[in-house]
Amino acid sequence: MHLQRLWLTDFRSYSTAELQFAPGLTALLGANGQGKTNIMEAVGYLATLSSFRGAPTEALIRRGAGSAVVRAEGEREGRSLLIEAEITASGRGRVQVNKQRLARTRDLLGALRVSVFAPDDLELVKGGPAERRRYLDETLVARKTSLDVLRTDLDRILRQRNALLKQSGGRLSAEVEATLMVWDAKLVDVGEALADARAALIEELAPVLRSSYDHVAGQSAHVDAVYDAPWRESGLGAALGAVRRDELRRGTSLVGPHRDELQLTIDGMPARTHASQGEQRSLALALRLAAHQVVTDSTGTPPILLLDDVFSELDPDRSWALLAHLPAGQTLLSSATGLPPGANPEQIFRIEDGTIRPS
Ligand SMILES: Nc1ncnc2c1ncn2[C@@H]1O[C@H](COP(=O)(O)OP(=O)(O)OP(=O)(O)O)[C@@H](O)[C@H]1O
Ligand SMILES: [Mg+2]
Repeated sequence: MHLQRLWLTDFRSYSTAELQFAPGLTALLGANGQGKTNIMEAVGYLATLSSFRGAPTEALIRRGAGSAVVRAEGEREGRSLLIEAEITASGRGRVQVNKQRLARTRDLLGALRVSVFAPDDLELVKGGPAERRRYLDETLVARKTSLDVLRTDLDRILRQRNALLKQSGGRLSAEVEATLMVWDAKLVDVGEALADARAALIEELAPVLRSSYDHVAGQSAHVDAVYDAPWRESGLGAALGAVRRDELRRGTSLVGPHRDELQLTIDGMPARTHASQGEQRSLALALRLAAHQVVTDSTGTPPILLLDDVFSELDPDRSWALLAHLPAGQTLLSSATGLPPGANPEQIFRIEDGTIRPS
């Protein structure tokens, strides 16, 4: 997939904007707050229908406007592709591909794929387990879009199950027990399927992660990634039975994939608590590179790379390693401080006060 043009209407700081991208590397340069990330976020939105900054959809609509539109034209396997997404205050709006309205917005997933590198990727290593679960699930969906169902089903089941546990007031009445059985069966189905998919992904990621880390860090260390889900030994059904009392008392679901962890170690020590700042940074970058590689291998085409301001956080060696180890493909990079060493963009845009000038 190669993105050729992008149009924005009332998206973030832009009332209207139009850009034309090179097939290789495009750089977006400009001072802080001028609207560089906004452009990348729009491209990312067309891939996932969400903001890679984690912003709620209403934040994507220009202040004072009622709705936003992101439209992109590209080419995929020799055919042209036009994606149009409307964003309304109530959430996701209409989405069209080649002027055909999609029955379900989920059908868009996979039309365009992106890999995002951002300065706060460090949180993948330093942050809580939720960050790493999200990393796994996003990679799963980028590789196989049908797995998005597991993720959304799990959220829904947990919401309902937690509501029931809370309502029970700590008592297992016959009625609560019967309803809980229904939710448990659903949780077991979806939970085991998601955990199996995550575990299989980690098997695939681990060797790639190891070599990515060595490239980025410029030295060899033994990096390991292990899925930590103790309940998988007994199965989720049995594990839920064992915590039933606690769940009723606390009013929330205590075991399942929403509590699992991706454990990362460097030379046998947990990266989150033992690794140095530089090692953590290298590992975060290696995690992104590995996911990008695995998605490229299984889909046959590299996702579009969005390198948002990453070079300001990386020393020249790591910047170089990042650029050198990317599979060929289309890349957008943003920088407030100029181009990173080794970057030779085909196209440069200078962004100032919301005006985008090719140079
Ligand atoms: N919904 C919105 N409506 C209007 N303006 C917005 C909206 N959301 C964000 N902005 C404006 O967009 C600007 C931020 O743009 P962006 O994050 O793209 O900057 P940037 O060029 O990436 O800066 P930096 O180099 O600091 O990362 C801010 O000035 C902000 O006020
Ligand atoms: Mg930015």
